[in-house]
Amino acid sequence: MTTRSGLTTDIVDDAVYRRTISQFRAAPRAIPLPTFAQLADPTRVPASIRARLASVDPDAPDPLNLFRVHWYNEHPGRRALAPAPAHLVLPPSLTGVPATIVVLLGWTFPMIQAHKVLAAYACLAPRLVTGQFDPSRDRAVWPSTGNYCRGGVAISRIMGCRGVAVLPEGMSHERFEWLARWVRDPGDVVRTPGSESNVKEIYDACKELAAQPDTVIFNQFCEFANYLVHQQCTGRAAEQVARALMAKTPGLRPRAFVSATGSAGTIGAGDHLKRALLEESAGEFKIAAVEAAECPTLLVNGFGEHNIQGIGDKHVPLIHNVMNTDLVVGVSDRASDSLDVLFNTPVGRAYLADRRRVPKATIDQLAHLGLSGIANVVASIKLARFYGMGREDLVITVATDAAAMYASSRARFLYQALGGALDPVSAGEIGGQHLLGVATDHVLELGQRERERIFNLGYYTWVEQQGVPVDAFVARRAQSFWRGLESLIPRWDALIDAFNAETGALAAAAKERL
Ligand SMILES: Cc1ncc(COP(=O)(O)O)c(C=O)c1O
Repeated sequence: MTTRSGLTTDIVDDAVYRRTISQFRAAPRAIPLPTFAQLADPTRVPASIRARLASVDPDAPDPLNLFRVHWYNEHPGRRALAPAPAHLVLPPSLTGVPATIVVLLGWTFPMIQAHKVLAAYACLAPRLVTGQFDPSRDRAVWPSTGNYCRGGVAISRIMGCRGVAVLPEGMSHERFEWLARWVRDPGDVVRTPGSESNVKEIYDACKELAAQPDTVIFNQFCEFANYLVHQQCTGRAAEQVARALMAKTPGLRPRAFVSATGSAGTIGAGDHLKRALLEESAGEFKIAAVEAAECPTLLVNGFGEHNIQGIGDKHVPLIHNVMNTDLVVGVSDRASDSLDVLFNTPVGRAYLADRRRVPKATIDQLAHLGLSGIANVVASIKLARFYGMGREDLVITVATDAAAMYASSRARFLYQALGGALDPVSAGEIGGQHLLGVATDHVLELGQRERERIFNLGYYTWVEQQGVPVDAFVARRAQSFWRGLESLIPRWDALIDAFNAETGALAAAAKERL
């Protein structure tokens, strides 16, 4: 597979660079690019652009929506930028544990209502400003288990280039519907065999596509920009939320970041949090990787099928900083499917309100958790139980997307598992089993040996199968490798600033009439 490292900070092809500048200057409207620093802290976005956002539909392919590709979107309208990331604090009456569990809500991101659009932008922007991708000629290929390819197609459309989605045929109907509306040509949606757990088949399709001319594969599983953008943007957003909660509740101690791993981009936020909150956590901050118990790749090198959509498995992504991961938590898709029904049906909501005394505002927000977000919540409860966490402990997790993507999957589960409808008895059973009764099975604390086992498992995908040089693979063992990546961000930002100055797009966007 011709995956390019994407880590260049020099202009590699001046002709391509120049062509990209003229395209971005002229394209129906000039296209300004946000810097990584602005996406981490949108108060740095020029006030003139921020003011213009109020008149832009957050779900339209409008270039200004690039300035919404971050955690700070006001909700529910998502028109203005928010001073703090959208998040939901789960009450103990729901989780059954006294620890505070807070969920960052990814549905507030523009266009795809999932945070994977952030990873897509982060992988493309450095290529554009280094002359490695020609939007007038090249097509961008986005291998995915469902949301990253939507993010990539959205970003491609804004940039005026062809975006190709590669995803398993078994992913939710809603994703394919969205893609049909956004791709330039129906042939730009490539369906690979299988589901969630068939990432190898995605790589195979990419290999075939890469053999065709003018094709650039943005492989999120080995693109370090995906790791970096989460480490910088998601990590800082989560830190801000944690600090605000700690200020409100003196004595609250950050203890863990819990994240399912698909490409292992999101879990990169944990690297930032572990460092930034070192003192407040008394050096005990844990990073927990979540996977499906039905396909326990990290737990036991296992394999299988599951329905926690977005969590690809049977491989260890190249961008997973395994040696800094502290636990693996397996969650059954039976739990995520069942809770998805509980959170999104009138009978389930009545159970939560009447029997569990969950406030209505919280119940409304639970619809903002997609299947992997629910799995992250269950994993957070497991973790809290495992460590016997109390009221003073804070666990931070993420919901990548929202329930809206899973209506068809929910209908299927309701029919197959619950006879077509949820009744009050089944609602009570689901709440009892998958919230109050969450056990500490499938939890593995990683010592040196276990970390090495998981790290080494990646060898078979990356060195043997995908041809990554063994030295480059092994270098990722050292934490200095991951720290070293951070120096790319200011260099890419300087290139983005220079690019914007050449296109004049920022100034043009600011001047357009409201
Ligand atoms: C719904 C959903 N959850 C979780 C993930 C995993 O996130 P990451 O790829 O950053 O590990 C993805 C990735 O595509 C996803 O779409």
